[in-house]
Amino acid sequence: MQQMVTPLSAVEFAGDTIRDLLRARLPNHALPAGLYTRNDVLDADLDVIFHRNWIAVAVEADVPEPGDVYALTIGRSPIVIVRDDDGEVRAFHNVCSHRGAKLVDDGRSIVGKLVCPYHQWTYELTGELIRAPHMGQDFAKQLYHLKTVALRNVSGVIFVCLSDDPPQDMDEKAALIAERLDEFRLADTKIAHERDIVENGNWKLTMENNRECYHCASNHPELSMAFYASDFGFDPADQSEEEAAETEALDVVYADRIAEWDSCGMLHDALNFASGHETHFRTQRLIIGGNGESQTPDQRAASRIPLGITEGRKNGDVHLWSNNLWAHFMGDHAVVFFCVPLTPDTTLVRTKWLVHKDAVEGVDYDLEHLTHIWITTNQEDADLVERTHKGVQSAGYRPGPYSTFNETTVNDFVTWYVERMVAAGHAD
Ligand code: FES
Ligand SMILES: [Fe+2]
Repeated sequence: MQQMVTPLSAVEFAGDTIRDLLRARLPNHALPAGLYTRNDVLDADLDVIFHRNWIAVAVEADVPEPGDVYALTIGRSPIVIVRDDDGEVRAFHNVCSHRGAKLVDDGRSIVGKLVCPYHQWTYELTGELIRAPHMGQDFAKQLYHLKTVALRNVSGVIFVCLSDDPPQDMDEKAALIAERLDEFRLADTKIAHERDIVENGNWKLTMENNRECYHCASNHPELSMAFYASDFGFDPADQSEEEAAETEALDVVYADRIAEWDSCGMLHDALNFASGHETHFRTQRLIIGGNGESQTPDQRAASRIPLGITEGRKNGDVHLWSNNLWAHFMGDHAVVFFCVPLTPDTTLVRTKWLVHKDAVEGVDYDLEHLTHIWITTNQEDADLVERTHKGVQSAGYRPGPYSTFNETTVNDFVTWYVERMVAAGHAD
């Protein structure tokens, strides 16, 4: 019997640098263990991916009215998102210009001005310093504006970049994403529910897991009712006769549905930007399975009030994946997931369920019906991420190959990650 041999380049030695680990990644394979487990890699990830690149942090519904404040922390950098008195959404480093105190606690609040609790320096919602007691009459307040964070409001999804030199390709990417999301009019939504889950695994395992549905049939019995497995790739040689017939039947359904979507100008084809791009995203409109309306236990719309201009009930699921985000936009509601690393082996996944702002809980939607599928699926995914993290920490771990039928999008994400790290100078 032939012995399986670990390729030499995938073997990790104590003392390997991040550069060594990035170089050791084999094409179309998972990452060397240290890239999932080491503290220095987490610091590098925070610097390169979460500070120098665009990341998704919020939705417009987080700050629906002037004076609304939403604060969160990315790595060691607290930021604050506000809606100013003119209705503009802005982002700042959540750090006082005096001696650096964190201005606002994480979470949501409503304020007239941003007042530092330490010595009461006070800022307008535009970031302008307007009060600095006992600093002298000649004190140049205009020099102490809050430090701005670059922000892009892309059809209601808020992206920020903590660097002073954000990737320029966001202009082009934002325009393409907006073409897909504008129909949902996220500015007219509210957050019906929000839930945090801390996954016991590295953030890249969290991202890899949400990029594929290879695991769905065996791990997500309820979610699997709301989509067609063959939409996520398959090896024709491995399909049963029944599965092959189902795939063929789906092609017919797609032909009809696409004609319908085309007649309404609803874009549906896949757009995929990963390798070779600073800002990574993928989007596509897919048919919803079962009753075809929404990702709910009975696949019926969760909310009676449609989102935006989507009057129809068979508008499918527009998914959006980006650097640290995945999301589903449907005719009646949207679910948006944000991933933020906490430590090398813990990751925050914050999920927001959006419905039309006029929808009333208990009247237009039932919270359990709205949230059940993704609360369940998130827990199932968290268990898979934890299970994988336990394996990648083991002396017995070797990076395995991805399926070229079912995991091409995982390879896209991981390849993009390695390229960004290399481009930032972590390897030649
Ligand atoms: S640190 Fe904020 S007012 Fe002093
Ligand atoms: Fe999953």
